[in-house]
Parts: sequence; structure tokens; C-alpha cells
Amino acid sequence: MTAIGGFKPASRRDGALGVHSVGEFVLTVPEVEKAEHFYGAFGLDARANGDQLSLHTAGDGYRWGRVVPGARKAMHHLSFHCWEEDLPRFRTHVESCGVKLLDPPPGFESNGLWFRDMDGTLVEIRVGVKTQPDSRTPMQLAPTETGIRNAPYRRNASRAVPKRLSHILHFTPDVLGAIRFYERVLGLRLSDRSADLVAFLHAIHGSDHHVMAFAKSNAPGLHHLSWDVPSLNDIGLGAMAMADKGYDRGWGFGRHVLGSNYFHYVRDPWGSYCEYSSDMDYVPGTMDWEGREHPPEDGFFLWGPNPPPDFIHNYEAGPA
Ligand SMILES: [Fe+2]
Repeated sequence: MTAIGGFKPASRRDGALGVHSVGEFVLTVPEVEKAEHFYGAFGLDARANGDQLSLHTAGDGYRWGRVVPGARKAMHHLSFHCWEEDLPRFRTHVESCGVKLLDPPPGFESNGLWFRDMDGTLVEIRVGVKTQPDSRTPMQLAPTETGIRNAPYRRNASRAVPKRLSHILHFTPDVLGAIRFYERVLGLRLSDRSADLVAFLHAIHGSDHHVMAFAKSNAPGLHHLSWDVPSLNDIGLGAMAMADKGYDRGWGFGRHVLGSNYFHYVRDPWGSYCEYSSDMDYVPGTMDWEGREHPPEDGFFLWGPNPPPDFIHNYEAGPA
């Protein structure tokens, strides 16, 4: 998150118009206390603020999301960040795409541009820091020494602490329509896809292999929020700690093919997931990654246990 530190300008691709990051997500859930417990246990700094919850990374304090009370769990809106000089261009561009600009929703007044995506999900483009890294986030290997026990006692195990949001995977009835909308209107680009089942998109100014992804369902809905942790050990520590706290449903440990990241998904109280992710592929702002199609049976995961039968079920659309 180079720009947040403010020491050097974040990488950008000259000329092309595109958002550079996911800045924030806002979810509604019926019981905010459950969210406070879940996200706090996951390793985020979950701060109660009135009837809302704000979700920060523990290290830098950046606010990645908010959880607000609502009748059901749903994505209230997604805020994408762009460069300051690009916001006026985006205003013209979004309208030229035939997308109607809206007033901000009550309680979220801003100078950003608000509109609905192809499924009706509320989206904002606003000026904000580049939360995506400017280069690949290398996996950390803890140094080990010969002649001593290198693993601590379990009771002394360190806590997995996510460093940043990597990406969001959302359900959509129309994956190909989602690619078209997010490429055309927000300037994301396709990284990889499998038929009309799943698609992964990156940001053009240098980002992880995907900042947004879409999976096919009969309705919109959140599948997972993915959080970058520094090492395989952190993925394992996170999964173990969550199981110890009662969050023992999920999928992992494994490695994806599209994105190449190592993963463990922990099921949240509403049937979607938070992912511990490490070592994802990176698309620099200086290259044009060729978006390709991959056979679903080869592209989902390289190794790991089989996913639970309802892993791709959209509980926002109804029971499995
Ligand atoms: Fe993911």
C-alpha cells in the first residue's frame, strides 16, 4: 500500500482510464455483533461504532470495510479508488457508457460517482489511495536454524494478521456480462476465466491477478472476501485459530490455479467466506496480461481437499 505511506507515488499506467483498487466494501447483516466476533477472530481490527462495525487491518489501520445493520446479509455497496485527475474523466466516461449516475445513499455522502452495476449492485468510484501493491507481494519464509526446535509451542502460536484485502468474489447471474461491465465502465481487465462460470479481473495500474472476480449463480451475492497474509504458516495458523473459535467450516489448505495463490477459506456466519491468501500472481501496470479461457476442471485448484458440496452456493439467493 505504497500510497498510504506517502513516501513514493504509486504506480500508474499513463493515459488509460481505470480504477486502481478496491477501496472499501460495505455489507449489511442482521446481527452486527456476529460480524464483530467473526472478523475480529479472523485477525482484523473490528471496531464497533454506534450500530456499525468498521474493519481495519491491524498493522496500518486502513479501513477496508464497514458492516451495517440490515434485514439480511448483502453487499450494500462497493467503493473503487481512482486517481484524482481521473475522476472528471470517469464522470464523462460512465455516463457515455449509458450508466446513470445516482445520488449517494443516505449515510454515505461523498464526492464519488455512484451507479449500479449490471446486476443492480451499488458501486462508487471515488478518489482514494492505491490499496493494491505496486509489485508482487513475495511470500515470507521464516528463517530456521539447525540444532534447535523452530516451531513454538501451540499455546505460544502467533496470530494470523491479514495485511490487506486482496480481492472480492461476487456472484452474478451473468459472468460474461460482468466482464463486459467492469471492463468497459471501471476499466478493469480480464485476467482469466472458465467458460461462463467464473472470471477474474485485475486493475490496470498494477494489481494482484484479481481484485474482483465473479462466479455464476442465479442472483448477486458475496462469495468471499480475500485477505493477504505473508506466509503459508499464517494460512495454517489462521485456519487453526478460527476452528478453535468455532469457525471450523470452510475449505483448504490448497492452491488455486488461476491466480496461483495458496488458500484457506473460513465460512462466515452467513454462508459466505473469508479467505486467507498468500503468494498470488501479480499483473504489473507495465504489461498487457492476456486474458485467457481455461477448462474448469483444470483451473479451479491445483491441489487440496475437495471443496464442501455447497462451496459455490449463493446463500443470499436462498437455501442450498
Ligand atoms: Fe479468492
